[in-house]
Amino acid sequence: MHLRTAVAAAGVALLQSAAAASVEAKNVIYIVPDGYGPASQNMARDLASLIETGTTGSNPEIHELPVDDLAIGRVRTHSASSMITDSAASGTAFAAGHKSYNGAISVRPDGQPVGSILEAAKMGGLKTGLVSTTSISDATPAVYAAHVANRGSMPLIAEQQLGYSHPLGSMVDLLLGGGRCNFSPNTTEGSCRSDDLDLLAYAEHQGFTVAVDRNEFNSLSKAKLPLLGLFSEESMRYEMDRRVLQDEPSLLEMAQTAIKTLHQATRRSKKGYFLMIEAARIDHAGHANDPANHAIETWMYNDVIAWVRDWIDQHPDTIMLSAADHETGGLTLNGYDPLPLRNGTHSSEHLQSVWDSQPEGFDERAFLVSEILPAYGLDDASDDEIESVLEASSVGAGIASALSARAGVDWSTGGHTSVDVTLHGYAAGRKRRALQADLAGGWDNTELPRYIEDVLGLDMDAVTEKLRRAARKDSSWLGKREIEARGFGGCDHYH
Ligand SMILES: *[C@@H]1O[C@H](CO)[C@@H](O)[C@H](O)[C@H]1NC(C)=O
Ligand SMILES: *[C@@H]1O[C@H](CO)[C@@H](O)[C@H](O)[C@H]1NC(C)=O
Ligand SMILES: [Zn+2]
Repeated sequence: MHLRTAVAAAGVALLQSAAAASVEAKNVIYIVPDGYGPASQNMARDLASLIETGTTGSNPEIHELPVDDLAIGRVRTHSASSMITDSAASGTAFAAGHKSYNGAISVRPDGQPVGSILEAAKMGGLKTGLVSTTSISDATPAVYAAHVANRGSMPLIAEQQLGYSHPLGSMVDLLLGGGRCNFSPNTTEGSCRSDDLDLLAYAEHQGFTVAVDRNEFNSLSKAKLPLLGLFSEESMRYEMDRRVLQDEPSLLEMAQTAIKTLHQATRRSKKGYFLMIEAARIDHAGHANDPANHAIETWMYNDVIAWVRDWIDQHPDTIMLSAADHETGGLTLNGYDPLPLRNGTHSSEHLQSVWDSQPEGFDERAFLVSEILPAYGLDDASDDEIESVLEASSVGAGIASALSARAGVDWSTGGHTSVDVTLHGYAAGRKRRALQADLAGGWDNTELPRYIEDVLGLDMDAVTEKLRRAARKDSSWLGKREIEARGFGGCDHYH
């Protein structure tokens, strides 16, 4: 049933801002597990249970993960241009409530900007935050505080996210993630910008606390808003690699810092905060068909959910909603046993980069057997498996495929699918039942921000109106739908 229909059926006046939600909250935390489908949770749960209990195969003892208990409904994800959405069109739907084409960052198919729930929160006097394990200017975080015709225009998105070129000024009080390259001038090594605009210096000048590495992150616990933390040039590390290398904060650590800082800044006020947290790299591990990595990224999402759930028990004025933007990989589990997924210590991406950094003419087979396969949990690989890896299009793809085959983990694609995603939610005490009653059933992704709008008492259409007025005077900030291939940091495929 549609939310608005439900309201009408209940005999409530159908005003734009009618309170369809029976739940009120001061704060909303919205968590996006990018590329997470139903089987992602299965595989993560089964692997976690195996590690905990030592059981699998014909006598498994399966334990619940935190997310298992929080399912409420189901969400449809198609975009205006495709049955299979990308993160940009999906984000425009669940951040701003409008269907658009794949690649659109909070603009409609006619090019007009649409206001997001985060912008409505900011205009309504709340504090706002975005956290992601990929570039903070990539599609999912971008849709909350930028409006551009093409998601590839990440330098433009970064400018808007800091308020440098956003027509309504600075909308985001806290940004934590990767993607420093879109903020540093073209004179800096690793920059993704074609101009010499220094957005890190701009942020400092605007009063942001700026952190760019693990040490600076550690000192943020007492920092005040506004806050900008960018801990890698592009995507942050996969959790698998990060927990070995320890040179970046984890998603859980960033989420904790974000929530504590936003809480501290708003606890004496009637107005709370809106925070979006993205577990971005579940999607990337899905694109890579990298099974253990996909499961461990999914664990991290579960860890974040568990921490947020406990936080909400202590802070019942806060609610949490969570749904993926789409499924990635077409993951199915048949002939399946998670046992072979247990021993790897690195992602296929990391091992590919180790491989690529070997000197010319190295002994490929010997290096594969002595270094790469053990680090991937395949130290007892057969000759056939070794040959298949050496013959694959890349070593990373070869090991991922060999491990998937062993574990009976089947991927139907290296892209996204149109499979519906699960809606999760949590509120403390009695509010939890009310939240579940409000959201039980199937939803279109565009309906989700309208619900949050009601919970927080906000007005997204008023933001849209302001953005359109600005666009009528000057629309250059909206960017171009067609952009130069080199305009966005060498990333040539969309997630
Ligand atoms: C860097 O940006 C400046 C000004 O935007 C431009 O004039 C210059 O050509 C750029 N340099 C490079 C190497 O792209
Ligand atoms: C995986 O690790 C377990 C326990 O550490 C060990 O007994 C087993 O031999 C390992 N399996 C492989 C394939 O390396
Ligand atoms: Zn993707």
